[in-house]
Amino acid sequence: MSRQDQLKREAALKAVEFVPENEYIGIGTGSTVDFFIEALGQSGKKVKGAVSTSPRSSELMSLYGIPEIHLNDVMRLAVYVDGADEVNHLLQMIKGGGGAHVREKIVANAADRFICIADESKYVSRLGRFPLPVEVVPLARSMVSRQLVKLGGRPELRIGFRSAGGNEIVDVEGLDLSQPLSMEDEINRITGVIDNGLFAHRPADLLVLARASGVEVLKAQV
Ligand code: 5RP
Repeated sequence: MSRQDQLKREAALKAVEFVPENEYIGIGTGSTVDFFIEALGQSGKKVKGAVSTSPRSSELMSLYGIPEIHLNDVMRLAVYVDGADEVNHLLQMIKGGGGAHVREKIVANAADRFICIADESKYVSRLGRFPLPVEVVPLARSMVSRQLVKLGGRPELRIGFRSAGGNEIVDVEGLDLSQPLSMEDEINRITGVIDNGLFAHRPADLLVLARASGVEVLKAQV
């Protein structure tokens, strides 16, 4: 296992401590979350049910005996656990490297508490080195891309990829993300955009960050 995967695993193991028993929870998508599902399954902790954000997570949840429920069948989720592509000191994030950010943002917004799990490479002083994923209705891809260029971005279609909702993703480099709240809104106002991977309006509440020196649990540093 690579050193980065070891750190992802350490963050995931620690996050299990923040999962309350006998509650409904939400589970994100990605390699860090894969470690979390494994750790939760092996911990013996029982949740009432978990909302999944991807077929990949659903499959692993079933393997580890974590009961899946549909978001429409629950009123609230106690916690949502997910990884990130980048996270800053306000616990705002770029997500969607795995192409699941639309579902992830929905489920994160249904949760009382969002716990982000990450290795130290994801913790950045400024968001924006990682290309911002934007999910678009296929028909509108070129039209949306031209608007993204006007915002200063360099959009590139994620070739051969369709989201769970059947849409395309353009990954956008070069955007100025120094005002993440307004940029999240501005991109989402473009007709044809489903949602983008900026999580500024719904930042994490806690960051479980695995560093070479140990695992830290951070709140937003305002
Ligand atoms: C998927 C995501 C993931 O959380 C993000 O891409 C991080 O993935 P990984 O844990 O594999 O590094 O947003 O849409």
